[in-house]
Amino acid sequence: MKERLEELKQEALQRVREAEDVKQLQEVRVAYLGKKGPITEVLRGMGKLSAEERPVIGQLANDVRGEIATAIDTKQEQLEKVALEAKLAEESIDVTLPGRPVQQGGPHLLTKLIEEIEDLFIGMGFEIAEGPEVEQDYYNFEALNLPKGHPARDMQDSFYITEDLLMRTHTSPVQARTMKNHEGRGPVKIICPGKVYRRDTDDATHSHQFTQIEGLYVDKNVRMSDLKGVLDTFAKKIFGQNREIRLRPSFFPFTEPSVEMDISCKICLGSGCSVCKQTGWIEILGAGMVHPNVLKMAGFDPKVYTGFAFGMGPERIAMLKYGVDDIRHFYTNDNRFLKQFHNA
Ligand code: PHE
Repeated sequence: MKERLEELKQEALQRVREAEDVKQLQEVRVAYLGKKGPITEVLRGMGKLSAEERPVIGQLANDVRGEIATAIDTKQEQLEKVALEAKLAEESIDVTLPGRPVQQGGPHLLTKLIEEIEDLFIGMGFEIAEGPEVEQDYYNFEALNLPKGHPARDMQDSFYITEDLLMRTHTSPVQARTMKNHEGRGPVKIICPGKVYRRDTDDATHSHQFTQIEGLYVDKNVRMSDLKGVLDTFAKKIFGQNREIRLRPSFFPFTEPSVEMDISCKICLGSGCSVCKQTGWIEILGAGMVHPNVLKMAGFDPKVYTGFAFGMGPERIAMLKYGVDDIRHFYTNDNRFLKQFHNA
């Protein structure tokens, strides 16, 4: 029996040495130390031994088990250590490598310009008003003195959704809505920035979607000279103190009289060059005194109240201010273009 135990010990130790991973080691543990293992088997035959031999063999069997168990434990520790080191090596990070630069974003040029214009008008006592981009025909046209079939509707080719719903073609419907909410009482002093839509083919100066800022001031005794003063302040703040404005007669169905505002050319300051086509002036926006019909439809008495309105396109202003030659640059989002204006 002694020999058998010795033999089993050598066999087990051999297998422990050969085990390549924790799983194999576990198999050895079960095979040699488990209840159905060969050592238990040997101990079961102890009944046949003499009383003197029995404790000796018992002791020996325990020693053998102990030795095998210790060998397995030691080997297990070793294997776990090797596995851990391999894992650490695989997951190691070289903290000395240079980092990848994170691209920093910034507000879009149009967003910045619109905010700048908003601040300027807020400083003159205007409030910001907003309205829906999907608009009723009534507010987009009729309430602005453009009844159905009016030829001037063709000035603004529209995306209709139903017969009475369209993508708004300008921000002027917000003035009609805001006036209506005031129920015939002034003052109404607002600017309305927002997106507008027209059925135009995109090219360097046209976009089917662009932005506008509408301005409206309705109160008792609002005069054309107030409009001129506000627009002059705006033009000098945005384009520079050395710029002049001029108003030319024009036509809009919702204003009477109507004007178009030009600013003196930045290049020649009015004397004429190729940028301003030798005129010395560059067209900026449309404006006028609110038409009595528009006041009436919104519930204001045109004998008591007067007002002015203006509408401008931030894209056009940005193009002139920053020398951008194609409106599509604002919408194709080429980061090389947009990045130039992060600190503008
Ligand atoms: N709504 C006009 C347009 O889009 C601009 C405008 C607004 C003109 C207010 C006069 C007064 O063309």
